[in-house]
Amino acid sequence: MHQGTTIDWRASLDAAWTKRSSLWQNPQIDCFRVFHGYEEGSRGTVIEKFNDAAVIDYKTDIRDDLPHIKTVLLDLFPFKNIIAKGHQSLGLSLKERTHVLHGNDALATCHEHELKFSVKLDAPHNPGLYLDARDARQWIVNNSADRRILNLFAFTGSLGLSAAHGKATEVIHLDRSKELLPRIQENYRINGVQFEARNFLRGDIYKHLPRAIKAGKRFDGIILDPPPKVYQSPYAKHKPSGQDFSALIKYCAQLLNPGGWVLGMLHRFDFSWDDFEDQVTQASNGLLLPESRLTSGIDFPESLPDKKLRVSTFITP
Ligand SMILES: C[S@@+](CC[C@H](N)C(=O)[O-])C[C@H]1O[C@@H](n2cnc3c(N)ncnc32)[C@H](O)[C@@H]1O
Repeated sequence: MHQGTTIDWRASLDAAWTKRSSLWQNPQIDCFRVFHGYEEGSRGTVIEKFNDAAVIDYKTDIRDDLPHIKTVLLDLFPFKNIIAKGHQSLGLSLKERTHVLHGNDALATCHEHELKFSVKLDAPHNPGLYLDARDARQWIVNNSADRRILNLFAFTGSLGLSAAHGKATEVIHLDRSKELLPRIQENYRINGVQFEARNFLRGDIYKHLPRAIKAGKRFDGIILDPPPKVYQSPYAKHKPSGQDFSALIKYCAQLLNPGGWVLGMLHRFDFSWDDFEDQVTQASNGLLLPESRLTSGIDFPESLPDKKLRVSTFITP
């Protein structure tokens, strides 16, 4: 029988909540990471808030602690829904590792500055909004006016929607997963942002980008957020490795208008930030030069700066 851990959840969660007062006091933000266990008291556990829902993700077995964690969370904030999800590496079935601790809504709508996002609380992985990209979304809002934007690896479209909200003339989203297209549409719909369904493309990036280049498509901004390990693709002439920036940047360089920008997100720890930027400049034959750096907020405390999300923007001179 599994015994509860010795973690002092009340002390750890109280301290984490106090540290985030600038977030929960901000009337424009109701979604943030409440607890980043790696640095705050429980390796492998993170808790995120999406409006009045809390999602607990755990990679070490804290199942016996969950009722107590729920009590502590409800003392911090009047959550309507609390759900816990164990990582597949625990070797438990999906049913054994998903626990609805409080409430029974499967969806929530959260707010970040002027935008709303719909999230699926019981989704096996991310519920639909990467909270560490908050500042990247703001950068995109502020740098997309009158530009045609391409959002690659779109997921639920939060980055492209930020561009549309920032008055981009057009935003094209591309993701290979079919289930995501209705979720992108839903995010546009709840924000009252106009869209054309033909701008939400489903397909493999290694198929679509060469076609777009051939067809003479051009963009003034490209958002490039590949997963840490890009899947192998029958359309790639090479074997994609890691985030595959060198190959992807070669495509982007051919799709970019003069004066255009690329925003790239580094999710791997085997690269330094400088290495990443050099790699992009080299792959683009000197066309893309680093311009600014962005990272995750105070809700993702890391003592090692290279453990944080690293986002660079590049411009064509
Ligand atoms: C890390 S998520 C991107 C998160 C997104 N940029 C955001 O901020 O919400 C990675 C996404 O890439 C998509 N993807 C992975 N490999 C792909 C490929 N070869 N072509 C197109 N999309 C791909 C996945 O379906 C997934 O939605």
